[in-house]
Amino acid sequence: MSLLKEPDFGTPAKDGPATVSLEVDGLSVCVPEGTSVMRAAAIAGVDVPKLCATDRLEAFGSCRLCLVEIDGRRGTPASCTTPVADGMVVRTQSPKVAKLRESVMELYISDHPLDCLTCSANGDCELQDMAGAVGLRQVRYGYEGENHLDAVKDQSNPYFDFDPSKCIACSRCVRACDEIQGTFALTIEGRGFASKVSPGAGESFMDSECVSCGACVQACPTATLQERSVIQLGMPSRSVITTCAYCGVGCSFKAELRGDELVRMVPHKDGGANEGHSCVKGRFAFGYATHPDRVLRPMVREKITDPWREVDWDEAIDTVARRMLDIRRRYGAEAIGAITSSRCTNEEVYVVQKMVRAAFGSNNVDTCARVCHSPTGYGLKQTFGESAGTQDFRSVAQADVIVVIGANPTDGHPVFASRMKQRLRQGAKLIVVDPRRIDLVRSPHIEADHHLQLRPGTNVAVVNAMAHVVVTEDLVDESFVAARCEDFDQWAEFISRAENSPEAVEPITGIPAAELRAAARLYAQAPNGAIYYGLGVTEHSQGSTMVMGMANLAMACGNIGRDGVGVNPLRGQNNVQGSCDMGSFPHELPGYRHVSDDAVRRTFENLWGTALLPDPGLRIPNMFDAAIDGTFRGLFVHGEDIAQSDPNVQHVLAALGAMELVVVQDLFINETAKFAHVFLPGASFLEKDGTFTNAERRINRVRAVMKPKNGMHEWDIVCQIATAMGYPMHYDHPGQIMDEIASLTPTFAGVSFARLDEVGSIQWPCDDDAPQGTPIMHIDAFTRGLGRFVPTPFVPTDERSTRRFPLILTTGRILSQYNVGAQTRRTANIAWHQEDLLEIHPHDAEDRGIADGDEVTLASRVGQTKLHARISDRMPTGVVYTTFHYPVTGANVVTTENSDWATNCPEYKVTAVQVALAHPVVREQEAHALNGVLAAELVD
Ligand code: SF4
Ligand code: SF4
Ligand code: SF4
Ligand code: FES
Repeated sequence: MSLLKEPDFGTPAKDGPATVSLEVDGLSVCVPEGTSVMRAAAIAGVDVPKLCATDRLEAFGSCRLCLVEIDGRRGTPASCTTPVADGMVVRTQSPKVAKLRESVMELYISDHPLDCLTCSANGDCELQDMAGAVGLRQVRYGYEGENHLDAVKDQSNPYFDFDPSKCIACSRCVRACDEIQGTFALTIEGRGFASKVSPGAGESFMDSECVSCGACVQACPTATLQERSVIQLGMPSRSVITTCAYCGVGCSFKAELRGDELVRMVPHKDGGANEGHSCVKGRFAFGYATHPDRVLRPMVREKITDPWREVDWDEAIDTVARRMLDIRRRYGAEAIGAITSSRCTNEEVYVVQKMVRAAFGSNNVDTCARVCHSPTGYGLKQTFGESAGTQDFRSVAQADVIVVIGANPTDGHPVFASRMKQRLRQGAKLIVVDPRRIDLVRSPHIEADHHLQLRPGTNVAVVNAMAHVVVTEDLVDESFVAARCEDFDQWAEFISRAENSPEAVEPITGIPAAELRAAARLYAQAPNGAIYYGLGVTEHSQGSTMVMGMANLAMACGNIGRDGVGVNPLRGQNNVQGSCDMGSFPHELPGYRHVSDDAVRRTFENLWGTALLPDPGLRIPNMFDAAIDGTFRGLFVHGEDIAQSDPNVQHVLAALGAMELVVVQDLFINETAKFAHVFLPGASFLEKDGTFTNAERRINRVRAVMKPKNGMHEWDIVCQIATAMGYPMHYDHPGQIMDEIASLTPTFAGVSFARLDEVGSIQWPCDDDAPQGTPIMHIDAFTRGLGRFVPTPFVPTDERSTRRFPLILTTGRILSQYNVGAQTRRTANIAWHQEDLLEIHPHDAEDRGIADGDEVTLASRVGQTKLHARISDRMPTGVVYTTFHYPVTGANVVTTENSDWATNCPEYKVTAVQVALAHPVVREQEAHALNGVLAAELVD
């Protein structure tokens, strides 16, 4: 349980070594230089009345409620905008300031509806609080004059209302949108009495640039901007701190409840990843957890053509165990396996891989990270020695040059994007490497210095060319390389070759050599250069090569091992990092230790009491191939929809259809469940206890807000299956599972639920050397000792555009939707995105007679689908783009089975396709014109 209302110190904290001592109302206080008088007073325990100030925003000084008296100073300065000075003596209460404050409040109240008792913010309204704080007893001015009481509500946003009749024009919302979110969607229009908050140019919230992050709602001190759920359900009465289950940013939230009902999710100020900010998904899109589509009872069927039969948990667990054992008896342990989920907690993932290795008796466990960030694990391990990003999110505030490669943070990782944009507005330079003109390239107060708009599939050529410039133009950080790295000379010889020069690769990448050279110099010469990347790097046939290429570049420039630098994967799903850490890959035990390592295996064997296999098991694509060959027959799929999310869907469906037993554990009947023989209902994150690990290796607690609606904890279901198969697995609480993980995994040695509850979150490695965790990695030495330069020759993908398939399809995620959409499609987020659209450049559209909104066929050599076209010059010619949130689109029907050479991560980002009108009819207008020409010809 946590405090519903967190303390607000009025202005942001300042840090720095210098301190200042002062006296507030007779209390001595010592604060960092630059602190406001208001904050110093709050630290001393004195609340100064305030309305326009809040500690998430820079002081503004507009409401004049926080006036104080300071010895030796004239007048009554605003405490929020006045910095402390040594020896200052402040009085926050005096007859003079009391009278001034009362007058200010009178003016506010005279233009405010006095419906406090029935107002939805009753009890959570700062205006109400301040009226009490200043002792307001009467309002001399009536409502006869002009007022705003009849201002019309804006209810266009699906999640919050805007009631301007209650607005006090404090501008907190506008500043929150600017300073925190960085969208600049709001303005204060007009002056004096006429001033009012306006989204965009007098538009509704829904029609404006607003991205529904909720920062303005949170900042608003009145009921003007308020969550609709609070209006409908009433004020929450208790809260539980937990972690968002959408993306790899891993934002902390206070789940605020009224009784047992979840009223709202409020971003947690002390959340290490988000520091009080959120995006539309975590903040508002939790309705799927209680959606009527959820399956709450286990179901079984003999054949997938049979109807489902609801059963109790005992029968479901017994059926899974019995049929798995039967397959193992007939075909051996190699014929069964499981896929873990990056949506699930670390504890759940750990027990699934333990069940496979100890109860199934194979190493056939793989993870959905196979299809997203497996090249990150491989590439960073080869070069740095650790399969994880190097920095914490805070580090971006120290970066001077930020390189964003194959990632679209404002849509995919919005809360981190807001941090990044704050730094960019402060003047950091930006290099974007992406075929698509993502929002970051040009957004309010941000303009990329270089947008390297490469052809899909040529990442490695680009990063090699950047490194070529660094090496051949003497931009290498020689002391760093000499002290910290190995194999530099052979790499430098490779990278200096003419074939890697910007001029040589220009015809391949499409990037002008001069622009690429300028970008490389900018990165190399920055005091701090930081690389952030996403699936646009990994989901390629050279995904692992590219990760190593970026690591080489960072090491050559000395950009590793301190704040503001590093190589940082922006992880897609909430627990991608954790599911990999937990030993989900068929070749690795928890902590990325190879199954062939006898000493490591023995540690696990001793604790688990069973022999483990020394050879790696099957990867997901190998499982599918083996299923079609008839050698792999039983699969447990934990919280993944492989029939929708994996490439070359026909192949996946054929594999699923060939298996004797498919067990699916999920919230909803998904596409994969259509091939299942047993369906085990899962629990939503609101019903779970455990941990997620975000993209910065931060282990966050997930706490149950409500009991599992399916009646069982997911970790317990897995343990009971293992037990029924003859391998007893028992825990009383997921905290015990974490204790086992910590005892077996050196990088988690100091992690426990108790410790997490005490400190909030921990970034691994957490051990005797780093008992507080490790925000920045590789500070004095790389995990592997010396950082290793690895030559990364560019090998073009086999997937090329041809006469038959002349365009390249690339895929991505948009802000309001999440991956295959199983959750977000069951929330009001569909208001923004009801279908997947195909973005196509105007020239490519014109060549094909396609107009905006036309239905088109999208065909590759493996399949075809239909969607509607959106004409957009965000894409270069020759490249089309879509999302894959809706099963009906089946975007992965067209993606091929090409994959990364090292990890089999599918090449989602490069598919040769053709696009054509789905219904090639002569348009009405054209038909009229044509008829006119024909008629004229006849007359002639
Ligand atoms: S919800 Fe977010 S983006 Fe929209 S106006 Fe408010 S702060 Fe700005
Ligand atoms: S909407 Fe709320 S935060 Fe914005 S100016 Fe009005 S009262 Fe202040
Ligand atoms: S940024 Fe990611 S973790 Fe944070 S609220 Fe949004 S979806 Fe959740
Ligand atoms: S709180 Fe200081 S002027 Fe409003």
